[in-house]
Amino acid sequence: MENFEVIGGNELHGEIEVNGAKNFALKILPAIVLMSGKCKITNLPFIEDIRRMLELLEDLGAKIESDESQKTVEIDPTGISKTALSETLVRKLRSSIILAGPMLSRFGEVKMSHPGGCVIGKRPIDMFLDGFGAFGAEVQWEEEAFILKAKDGKLKGADIFFPKVTVTGTETMVMAAVLAEGKTILRNAAMEPEISVLAEYLNSCGAKIKGAGSPTIEIEGVKEISGGEFRVIPDRIEAGTFVMMGLLTKSEITVKNCIPEHLGAVIPILKKAGANLEIGEDYITTKKSDLIATSIATHEYPGFATDIQPPYTLLMTQAKGISIIHEAIFEGRLFFTDQLNTMGANIIMCDPHRVVVSGPTELYGKRLTSPDLRAGITMILAGMIAKGKTVIDNIYQIDRGYEKIEERLQKLGVDIKRVKEN
Ligand code: EPU
Repeated sequence: MENFEVIGGNELHGEIEVNGAKNFALKILPAIVLMSGKCKITNLPFIEDIRRMLELLEDLGAKIESDESQKTVEIDPTGISKTALSETLVRKLRSSIILAGPMLSRFGEVKMSHPGGCVIGKRPIDMFLDGFGAFGAEVQWEEEAFILKAKDGKLKGADIFFPKVTVTGTETMVMAAVLAEGKTILRNAAMEPEISVLAEYLNSCGAKIKGAGSPTIEIEGVKEISGGEFRVIPDRIEAGTFVMMGLLTKSEITVKNCIPEHLGAVIPILKKAGANLEIGEDYITTKKSDLIATSIATHEYPGFATDIQPPYTLLMTQAKGISIIHEAIFEGRLFFTDQLNTMGANIIMCDPHRVVVSGPTELYGKRLTSPDLRAGITMILAGMIAKGKTVIDNIYQIDRGYEKIEERLQKLGVDIKRVKEN
């Protein structure tokens, strides 16, 4: 078993580069199933979730050549013939459900078990199953798995209204529609930047998608799309988290290779909270700031991203006053605050969706367990500002989303090491 040990108190200096976005890479990889030629993906983060997605594609029959040092992967999807996803891999990765869209669109059939994933909430898949049903796919349940089959072997364009805004649901239905017969309209679609870029890339291969990035997306089905070369966009969640790290440690650091515009509401909220930031076209520099408690509610893009809520909640333990954090998207994403309280934070949970944070409070090093990747990175940040040593267990959850995080943080002056324990 491995864990992270962090000794708090260091001021940080220098620059940190933002990696390719996990939540974009996890969509462009399955999209390759739709393509009839070889593809090259650059700026790919080699994190655990991406490794699992590559293993899923390889298991289906795709040929994969990875070059981790160059952050690239070449994928030839032409050998895919299997339509059943590996049960073991599907259980490890919630995003495996995304593969069902392109698999159905291309082959008219897919078999998979209920996807696994992290513990931030119930994570149902009803909107996926309803969406596939609207395209004319039938669901057959086997004990632990389900089989989706398109009527007459081909999906038919559909008019789908999402009862709740769903990011992967939107992306999966876009992919399902690309090779379906006829026109599809997606209403109340998610508007995350990853969706617009995915549509742009698919269009560059011959797909016909209009309106991505707005609540209504229209897709005209085509017979075939080609392969291509795609660059993974910078991870906006990593960028936002590193900005919080600079503010928490009262350090001047530059977060490089990011797209500040993709942070949506996060920058205006941080400014309101008194953050002193220099923002360039592709970088954000943090300066020492006196923070004032500022309440937030998470919201779909361009609202305050739920994935940046955990480090922001920690930030509020260092701000003057009382703030309310309303986690509106997931019901399990605030429970980690109990562990911040063991370090000395003053956070009161009103209900699973709401906490009240009083600050500033001094934090003290403790042994913690990372429940999911965003809470896990937040625990590393908490360790950086705590007195003494913090040990974080269950770091597979952190490796799922952050590549070689300890090496990148050490370069800024963070006292962190990965320790093997028997
Ligand atoms: N929902 C349903 N039914 C469904 C699907 C979703 O009720 O069939 C609900 C969810 O339970 C949630 C809400 O709809 O309450 C919105 O969830 P959404 O479907 O948008 O989440 P997701 O697509 O599963 C993606 C990211 C998450 C991120 C959310 C919200 C990927 C691979 N995952 O999840 O990222 O938190 O959007 O922005 O893109 C993370 O990276 O740590 C992470 C969890």
